[in-house]
Amino acid sequence: MPTSLHRMSYLSAATFQPLSLIGLAGLLAVCQSNNDRNGLTGALAVSSDRFFGVVEGPRDSLFNLVARLQRDGRHRDIRILELGPASARIFERWSLVADLVEPRLAISLADVVMPDAIAVETRVAMLEGLTRSLPQVGGLR
Ligand SMILES: Cc1cc2nc3c(=O)[nH]c(=O)nc-3n(C[C@H](O)[C@H](O)[C@H](O)COP(=O)(O)O)c2cc1C
Repeated sequence: MPTSLHRMSYLSAATFQPLSLIGLAGLLAVCQSNNDRNGLTGALAVSSDRFFGVVEGPRDSLFNLVARLQRDGRHRDIRILELGPASARIFERWSLVADLVEPRLAISLADVVMPDAIAVETRVAMLEGLTRSLPQVGGLR
């Protein structure tokens, strides 16, 4: 089943310091166009210098992305938290939620990216809630 729906989530630490709007905008542009093309949806949480990402779509596209993420020098210490079949998509598109852009979400974002034990399902649900609270127009989508 090479094209069956899968979900992957990961934690990592940014190496581009300090995180800047320009750096995030560059990342957003590439991610959005690549993910649209590859049938991938999901979200990337950015808080301080940490990332939590969730991506869902065809299995092959996801494995391909994992390989690219692992070669990307903009982050390190990548920890894949889950990678497996999913029954349905949780995210309708791919979006980026950053404390730099949405300071009002800073406290929740800090929880989502924290490295300690918190169930991956909980993290994904928290991130999904945060993406829903983004403005329809004007947010980084
Ligand atoms: C935290 C983080 C998340 C990323 N998420 C994605 C993503 O969802 N989709 C994507 O195509 N690239 C993503 N990238 C960028 C890839 O690592 C890679 O640079 C990009 O896909 C282009 O790869 P290429 O130069 O090998 O074609 C991400 C990079 C970082 C640092």
